[in-house]
Amino acid sequence: MKISNPTNVKQAAKLLIQGKLCAFPTETVYGLGAIASDSEAILSIYQTKNRPAFNPLIIHCADYEMATELVKFSPLAKKLTQFWPGALTLVLPKNPTANISDIVSAGLDTLAVRVPAHKIAQQLIKTVGEPLAAPSANPSGNLSPTNAQMVKSGFDNKVPVLDGGACEAGLESTIIAIIGEEITQLRAGAIAKKDIEKAIGQSIKTASSESKISAPGMLKSHYAPKANLRLNVSNPNPDEAYLAFGIEPKNITIIKNLSPSSDLKQAAKNLFSFLNILDEAGAKNIAIAPIPNQGLGEAINDRLKRAATPKS
Ligand code: TXA
Ligand code: MG
Repeated sequence: MKISNPTNVKQAAKLLIQGKLCAFPTETVYGLGAIASDSEAILSIYQTKNRPAFNPLIIHCADYEMATELVKFSPLAKKLTQFWPGALTLVLPKNPTANISDIVSAGLDTLAVRVPAHKIAQQLIKTVGEPLAAPSANPSGNLSPTNAQMVKSGFDNKVPVLDGGACEAGLESTIIAIIGEEITQLRAGAIAKKDIEKAIGQSIKTASSESKISAPGMLKSHYAPKANLRLNVSNPNPDEAYLAFGIEPKNITIIKNLSPSSDLKQAAKNLFSFLNILDEAGAKNIAIAPIPNQGLGEAINDRLKRAATPKS
């Protein structure tokens, strides 16, 4: 059955209010949205993505006030909201009175919340008038979509998508958990850890196997294209497609350059869509240039490492 895609926010909001799913753009990646209080719609997100039930969803709010109905903000958490609207997700203690489907938090007593900056995402949440649950709009384990076409082909045209063009950041949000006075980064993302540390004047731990908390969705193999990936390659073999960063080697037939000027922000924006293009071009082996591991480079290298890990 062919589905029709909404062409404006009003139509997308109507689908959501009817209990259907709708993918929409954010400044990070496209999200697969459903009303957060609608258990049937939430269940349908898990089924559509083939997402393990232990993996909780991020709730998207129009503003800080909407978020206060869902989670408790300590003074430190409040300080971090200076990054809202924007690409920062906060994991905070759930309000017992929050009107949220139980499935959303996968049994945890915390909730991940964020206020997206994208104009369309903002308008959509305001038009619906309720928080929206939205994981990245890809089948579980695949690359996150950074444009509407990637969403459509990922789900075989079976999910309605509100097209808002290419995503500005191209990487998922940075996830920070605050438990008491302790701040832990659960996922590197579109806002570099050092920028958050600078803004709050406090250092942030990185989640490890010993941490009290982790993001259940941070699997070893994730964000994976179909091709095999080889990382930190300056001299690709002739039979490899190449994802360059800065200088391009000669004699490579299939090549995309994340950023000819070696700009990490541009590289982040292009990462998933260029991997997707090389994948769709039928490349069996993709070699990837070394990416400096600073600032946004940490999140880019995190995604590349997971993308290169064989799916078990
Ligand atoms: O940029 C983004 O964050 C995008 C856009 C659409 O907002 N969303 C996104 O959602 O990347 P998703 O579902 O693909 O990734 C959410 C991550 C998962 O790794 C999940 O385990 C973690 O957030 N998470 C959600 N709730 C959590 C919680 N209560 N505690 C710890 N981790 C949580
Ligand atoms: Mg995801």
